[in-house]
Amino acid sequence: MKILMVCLGNICRSPIAEGVLQHKANAAGFDWLIESAGTNGLHNGEQPHHLSQKICRQNGMDISHQVSRKVSVTDFDTYDLIFAMSKDVLSDLQAIRWNTSDAQKISLLLEQTHPGMRMDVPDPWYGNEDGYIEVFAMINAACDAIINAHQNNKLYTPYG
Ligand code: 4NP
Repeated sequence: MKILMVCLGNICRSPIAEGVLQHKANAAGFDWLIESAGTNGLHNGEQPHHLSQKICRQNGMDISHQVSRKVSVTDFDTYDLIFAMSKDVLSDLQAIRWNTSDAQKISLLLEQTHPGMRMDVPDPWYGNEDGYIEVFAMINAACDAIINAHQNNKLYTPYG
């Protein structure tokens, strides 16, 4: 399975989500490829934010190899599931999708832990290190839920 994590800049939230889910999938023995992208393309070519790298490093993950890129319409062909970090990102993804079956691949990441609540992973870009710690915890829980759901054949992927 191939999974894409998407936020705005692809330097703060989705790089953490890529690193965490890849780490958990590997540990669970799943042959999954996890990647990430951003909707705004403003940081194309950059490494993850240093505080995203730091919180991952503190949790045993090195995400320094990741390179920011803008999401592309062909990503809907490449990936089986696409998780948006927030509703603004979800709207942008829904606007560029090809067709209805593509739409069924997209959902909010936090629906995995809070189904039906349409919660966002808050953008830590304008805040301090505490924001990155909070975001890591939310993403970590959602990635645990993805792994558990897959193990139980109940991966929750709502329309939108
Ligand atoms: P991210 O955070 O979407 O979690 O990577 C942001 C990073 C940069 C910007 C916005 C959000 N920006 O506008 O430059």
